[in-house]
Amino acid sequence: MSKRLIIANWKMNPTTLIEAKKIFIKSKLLSAKLKKTSIIVCPPSVYLSAFRIKKSQKFSLGAQDIFWKLSGAHTGEISPLMIANLGASFCIVGHSERRILGETDEVVSKKLRSLFKEKITTILCVGERERDVQGHYLETLSAQIRGSLRSVERKNASKLIIAYEPIWAIGKTADDAINPRKLHEMVIFVRKVLAQIFGAETAKKIRILYGGSVEGKNAHELISNGHVSGFLVGHASLDMREFSEIIKAVEKS
Ligand code: PGA
Repeated sequence: MSKRLIIANWKMNPTTLIEAKKIFIKSKLLSAKLKKTSIIVCPPSVYLSAFRIKKSQKFSLGAQDIFWKLSGAHTGEISPLMIANLGASFCIVGHSERRILGETDEVVSKKLRSLFKEKITTILCVGERERDVQGHYLETLSAQIRGSLRSVERKNASKLIIAYEPIWAIGKTADDAINPRKLHEMVIFVRKVLAQIFGAETAKKIRILYGGSVEGKNAHELISNGHVSGFLVGHASLDMREFSEIIKAVEKS
C-alpha cells in the first residue's frame, strides 16, 4: 500500500521567519515516528531556503505554486527549477485561492507540465464552488479536471496527486467539512474522470486527497469512510495541537 499523505498548506502564513521555523521544526518532529504516513510541508516560497532538509520518505518540502517557465524575464514569479534547487519535491497547483485570482485551467495545465519536466510531484487542486440539486457541479468538476490535465501525458500520472477541495468547505470548521459518505462518492467520481483521461489502470494508482476544514475532530472519519489517501490541510497545519491530532488519525486509520 502506498503511503498516506498529509500536505500542510500554510498559505500566506506565518509572517516571520522565526515563527515559520518553529512550525517547521514541530511539524518535522511529528513525522519522526510515522510508519504509514508522509508529511509534506508547503510554506510560502520565501521560507524554503531556510528549511533545507535531507531526502526522506516521511517528511518533505513543497511549494504552493510556481510559474511555468524555468527562468527569464518574468517579474515576481518563481520557477519549478528554483524550488527544486531549494529541496522542494512537491508543489501545489490550481488551488481555489489562486483560481479566484484569475488562474485558468489552461494556466494550471502549463504549470503541471512544467513541474513534471522537473520531476516534481504535483498536487492538483480541484473542487466545485457550490452544489446544486440537479448535480451540475459534477459537470463543472469534470471539466475542471479535464482542462487542468490537458496535454498531460499518461507517463506523468505517477507524479500526480489530486486534492479534491470543495470551495464551500474551505477555511471553516470540522462541522462544515464534507461528510465521509459524500466524500466517498466524490472520490469515485474523480477516479472515473481520471480513468476516462488516462485509462483505468493508471487512474487506480493516482492518489486522491481531501481538503476543506480537516481538523483533529473529523480526520479519522474522513479518512476511514471517505476512502481518500490523505489530506491537504490549511489552517489546522499551523496549529500544532490540531495538526498532531490529524496525523495521529491518519496514521491509525
Ligand atoms: P482549510 O484549507 O484546511 O483551512 O480549509 C484547505 C485548503 O484550502 O487547502
